[in-house]
Amino acid sequence: MLEGHTIVLGVTGSIAAYKSAELVRLLVKKGATVKVLMTPEARQFITSLTLATLSRHPVYTEIASEDEWHNHVMLGREADLLLIAPATAHTIAKMASGLCDNLLLATYLSACCPVMVVPAMDEDMWWHPATREQVDKLLSHGVDVLDVAHGDLASGLQGWGRMLEPQQIVEAIEARWVQPGHQLKGKKVLVTAGPTREPIDPVRYISNHSSGKMGFALARLFAWMGAEVHLIAGPTPVPPPRHPHIQLTRIETAAELQHACEMFFPQMDITVMAAAVADYRPQHAATQKIKKLDDHLQLQLEKTTDILAELGKRKQAHQWLVGFALESQHDASLALEKLQRKNLDMIVLNSLDDPGAGFAGDSNKISIFDRLGHEIHFPLKHKHAVAHDIIQALLDLMHAT
Ligand code: CTP
Repeated sequence: MLEGHTIVLGVTGSIAAYKSAELVRLLVKKGATVKVLMTPEARQFITSLTLATLSRHPVYTEIASEDEWHNHVMLGREADLLLIAPATAHTIAKMASGLCDNLLLATYLSACCPVMVVPAMDEDMWWHPATREQVDKLLSHGVDVLDVAHGDLASGLQGWGRMLEPQQIVEAIEARWVQPGHQLKGKKVLVTAGPTREPIDPVRYISNHSSGKMGFALARLFAWMGAEVHLIAGPTPVPPPRHPHIQLTRIETAAELQHACEMFFPQMDITVMAAAVADYRPQHAATQKIKKLDDHLQLQLEKTTDILAELGKRKQAHQWLVGFALESQHDASLALEKLQRKNLDMIVLNSLDDPGAGFAGDSNKISIFDRLGHEIHFPLKHKHAVAHDIIQALLDLMHAT
């Protein structure tokens, strides 16, 4: 089940580290190549000899030892998954803040692969607002943070905070990363993300509040699932995801986005238009900065090309096209009309009216409609989880047709 997968396991200084031995054993038994990194504190709970013997690979703790430098960049690059189990509150906070004082943290910061964190701590630490904030931060960075279990804790108390059992961790890896991972290998995927800027003059423009987060989460997940991704992104404050399988093109205007889409679209298997394209642009952008001479200024706007509709016209039988609809009311009929009119395979409807959902934030509440008439409504979720739902719905549609 895990054959051909390299898992880098980071073990941190928690009493639950004794379970890492069993975790390594199960992963190796499933066929994974397991390389273990330990924080210095983890060595107080389990020996590197135990983990080296079970994993059949040397175990590293320090970035450099004696005359050897351990290449954390390559460790992060060759891994299919970076698994941190157990993850202490301290390591979680350091990961969320970008601190880098050991080999495990350096590998985390260099990793291009999915990262799964399995926390372990006492209940009061788990529920502390500081820990909540750090976990939320990690989620917003695209890290998959598993839940803690309820039961006996090292403090002698009972409650939430236990690390999941090794068998549950292996099941989570198989369900969330390995099974979907095979399905998009070799597929070419185009994702557009972020807003466009339509110039009024050399210093001003018309744009919108899109952060690009939804498109970025999709691009990253497609890449993690083996696809070759071409990401076209407008100007966003959020940095686009880095991955060896993501090629990035930056655009500013709707016209530049259209040009890039038309160039890449014919080679694509799947195209997802998550960009918030300006529907109108100034008819003439002034070449000089407009002076404030009059009390009123009129801008003449013209419609931009509906890129998604254009791609819909060119779509071949083997291509899959997914669009988004952002409506003030959660109105299914408007989304279905767009699905038909733009010749889409699937449309993702998100409503401006749902609290917590939409453009700039980290969460989204969507409904998905496809051309076979399927309709799925989801609760409010983090955008990374929403990306999972969208890609799973697309895979289901691809298998059903
Ligand atoms: N879109 C596009 N080109 C445009 C405008 C929108 O490709 N010029 C794409 C978006 O990327 C999105 C979808 O069309 O996938 C829906 O955009 P939306 O603004 O919700 O709908 P419109 O079709 O523009 O209709 P309206 O604004 O009237 O609701």
